[in-house]
Amino acid sequence: PVKPVLPADIRARKGGTPLVVLTSYTTPMARLVDAHCDIALVGDSVGMVLHGLPSTLGVTMEMMILHGRAVTRGLTKAMAVIDMPFGSYEEGPEHAFRNAARLVAETGAPAVKLEGGTHMAETIAFLTARGIPVMAHVGLTPQSVNTIGGYKVVGRDGEGDKVMADALAVEEAGAFSVVLEKVPEGLASRITQSLDIPTIGIGAGVRCDGQVLVIDDMLGMFTEFRPKFVKRYADLGQQADRAIAAYAEEVRARSFPAPEHAFPDVLKAKP
Ligand code: KIV
Ligand code: NA
Repeated sequence: PVKPVLPADIRARKGGTPLVVLTSYTTPMARLVDAHCDIALVGDSVGMVLHGLPSTLGVTMEMMILHGRAVTRGLTKAMAVIDMPFGSYEEGPEHAFRNAARLVAETGAPAVKLEGGTHMAETIAFLTARGIPVMAHVGLTPQSVNTIGGYKVVGRDGEGDKVMADALAVEEAGAFSVVLEKVPEGLASRITQSLDIPTIGIGAGVRCDGQVLVIDDMLGMFTEFRPKFVKRYADLGQQADRAIAAYAEEVRARSFPAPEHAFPDVLKAKP
């Protein structure tokens, strides 16, 4: 299928109508996202949302490739971006390129995303120079949960300069956009004003160049925990619970299947 939105188009959207981004992990969700969004992000959040992992640290290349392929099959307009999983890019630029190239070649997505600011700049430049557009991700970087010590707001109390420096470093390295996660809104606004590439916020206030949410969070499908920045636009989990309960009750009562769901032994002859 044709996927007209490309990283250069996203970059050119700086300061314009906000970019609309949602995560996607499957073909049917990607089709829904494709109809309304600019980017379908195959986030490593897939590990927690669909695979029951306690964090994103256990997500593998194979998982990202499988879900990435499912998502690109569902897209006709929106651009897919695939998260590089923990352990697939941190060692150094060559190692990162090898894995990023696999993600692009095996899924058909034109771009990857990786976590980290100043310390990942060299890798971002290496990938970009060799044909792989990179979306960066600074502020709260969930793959570093064990060194950060939790999923807290990043950039308060004098930490703001570091987040600003990280954002400037990934832009300088050639990233075509940058996710700002759980950054105070004033800081996110200053970063957005300071960069020439679009900022895509999640828990970063309304003044970013775009917004992203985890689709299962905003649909009310994933309810293990609910960060403050998640707005629930639907309660699909609750609806599914009600539907499954009704089915279970009807099966036990032998009221499902009804005659119209069953196959008669003898077909009526046509008149
Ligand atoms: O994995 C993910 O879903 C993400 C977004 C929340 C930015 O990285
Ligand atoms: Na992620």
